[in-house]
Amino acid sequence: MGDIKKGLEGVVALDTSISFIDGLQGILKYRGIEVEHLAEMSYDAVSYLLINGILPDEQELTDYSSRLKNERFLHHNMADVLKICEFGIESLDLLRTAISCSAHFDTEKDIHSPEANINKAIRLVAKFPTMVAALERNRIGVEPIGPNNDLSHGANFLYMLTGRIPTDLEAEAIEKDFILSAEHELNPSTFSLRIAASTLSDLYSAIICGLCTLKGPLHGGARKGVMDMLDEVISPDNAENYIQDKISKKEKIMGFGHRVYKTYDPRAQVYKDIARRISLENGDTVWYDMAEKLEHIMYHEFIELRGKPIYPNVDFYSAVVYKYLDIPSELATSVFAIGRVSGWIAHCLEQYSDNRVIRPRANFV
Ligand SMILES: CC(C)(COP(=O)(O)OP(=O)(O)OC[C@H]1O[C@@H](n2cnc3c(N)ncnc32)[C@H](O)[C@@H]1OP(=O)(O)O)[C@@H](O)C(=O)NCCC(=O)NCCS
Repeated sequence: MGDIKKGLEGVVALDTSISFIDGLQGILKYRGIEVEHLAEMSYDAVSYLLINGILPDEQELTDYSSRLKNERFLHHNMADVLKICEFGIESLDLLRTAISCSAHFDTEKDIHSPEANINKAIRLVAKFPTMVAALERNRIGVEPIGPNNDLSHGANFLYMLTGRIPTDLEAEAIEKDFILSAEHELNPSTFSLRIAASTLSDLYSAIICGLCTLKGPLHGGARKGVMDMLDEVISPDNAENYIQDKISKKEKIMGFGHRVYKTYDPRAQVYKDIARRISLENGDTVWYDMAEKLEHIMYHEFIELRGKPIYPNVDFYSAVVYKYLDIPSELATSVFAIGRVSGWIAHCLEQYSDNRVIRPRANFV
């Protein structure tokens, strides 16, 4: 067999019309539209775009948003399931279990028609935030709060999590977070669920594969890693020592580097701006200042060490935003998944629409 590309680096595995990345120029587009532009829209519009392939007109968006709102509520049996789940395990593991159980209450789970798949897609997008908020409230020993249908997808999530209507800027921050997290071509979780979909396994099963893969610290788990790092560094004055120590031990610094981007991740730019604005509204800029200092030190350290800089990835400033939104670090990967589910669904539907089972070969040694 030919040369093996470790980690499949640079290997093109399939055609997609869902997203495009230029890693050298720092460009990311969903369905042909730059992510910076999409970040100004609502998550409902972007989710519609990913799942249906085109942006909705006004009426289509109103109908889609209202279908999502109608599906925010959980099946009455899910309340009991979520309570049973409350035994001190990681949030992402809880979410995986909850999504798996919720599949059993979906009468269309094993119906594979395009119409049933869209119905399931809407249920998944709508119910992810309700489940994450309910699981977290159970975990901390307070009653879950039902959805508030006067609020947007993002604002409603924060409301269900905290019981407080978010400020306009907080609502904008979480909405942007969901949009920026929604899709990223053949990242590990998306690849894993396309493999599941290629066996013609059902949509729920594929999404659960995505969740399991997102969990790892080298993928979605890095966001929690950055939040924990900010807690450890405590003050911008400690940033230099922290980085030096990690580098001397040859440990990875979470939230930096990327397989595809060799320049600034365009999502990180948008996150950085919202992190700065929310830190100012909050009146305490320490988390933001610390992050900027870490970014500056990493940039220069890597030029010295490797002759080229390293840049923050999507997980770096998103973690700072989560700090200001009071999202606990244990919840970071699950919140990431709330945004990502639309992109995952789009990939499953694309795989189903022109399927051949994904089955590569291995070189026996
Ligand atoms: C994202 C990531 C997994 C990309 O991995 P990759 O394409 O396989 O790149 P590598 O891990 O091989 O990195 C190349 C070199 O840069 C170093 N490097 C890359 N990211 C680094 C980081 N965040 N901290 C310290 N060193 C890093 C590696 O140690 C490696 O050095 P080596 O050649 O001496 O072994 C990697 O950058 C990483 O682990 N980052 C931290 C975790 C993270 O933020 N993940 C979220 C991704 S969106």
